[in-house]
Amino acid sequence: MATAHDRPATPSPGGAGGSPFDPVWTAYRQAVDNNYFSHLEVGRELHRELSEVGRPFRFLDLACGDARTTAAALRGTAVAHYRGVDLSATALAAAREAVADLPCPAELEEADFAAGVLARRWPADVVWIGLSLHHLRTDEKGALMEGVRAAVGDDGRFLVYEPVCGEGEDRPAYFDRFEQTYHPLWPKLTAEEWTAVMTHIRAADYPESPAGWARLGRAAGFAGVRELFTDPAGMVTMFSFLP
Ligand SMILES: C[S@@+](CC[C@H](N)C(=O)[O-])C[C@H]1O[C@@H](n2cnc3c(N)ncnc32)[C@H](O)[C@@H]1O
Repeated sequence: MATAHDRPATPSPGGAGGSPFDPVWTAYRQAVDNNYFSHLEVGRELHRELSEVGRPFRFLDLACGDARTTAAALRGTAVAHYRGVDLSATALAAAREAVADLPCPAELEEADFAAGVLARRWPADVVWIGLSLHHLRTDEKGALMEGVRAAVGDDGRFLVYEPVCGEGEDRPAYFDRFEQTYHPLWPKLTAEEWTAVMTHIRAADYPESPAGWARLGRAAGFAGVRELFTDPAGMVTMFSFLP
């Protein structure tokens, strides 16, 4: 079985973390800046969820990117430690600015999130991953989630915001739906950026249905899963997994 360990340590086709001259990177920046993926609503939901943690907590941000959404969501919570992990030095440089004024120690690490979690490198109370776990195959997602379950123990939580396919919808049908849904809604992207996005999605996206995400959570040892938010386009859902 191919595992995330076997993957080359490169942000491509993981995507969106590379050079400022990479059209996938510039397209992703446009998508975030124009709220095409509902980062604002997700940030608010994340803040609400984190405010419920009634004690100081260590926060692990897997594939943190520029960490803008998470840093904003963490303000005013009981966060005691922040760790952001990403493969891209470009993304981490931006993240360094975003986490500078967090009221807690913040560490950033250039690393493969899957390899680090499987190696049990990062103890944490809350683990968050946004728009990145779907690059792993189903069995790899399951292994990653088992590692997260071990990391957070019996009192933590795992929060994700990831693409969802319909029950029985295969990858080509999902890609068509992605294109038909988002293309008209993302007018700021150039034709080159849109083509780069679709090429990246077709190469690297492995969405799960909501029931699939719940199954993976249960198999990893999480007792409960809640759907917290779905973007208006119905493409991406935020889940909370509780031990
Ligand atoms: C689509 S961006 C998401 C960034 C951020 N989580 C957000 O929601 O805005 C994907 C990020 O994952 C990073 N990435 C992709 N594969 C990775 C891996 N295996 N390990 C660590 N980072 C990875 C990329 O460098 C990029 O910064």
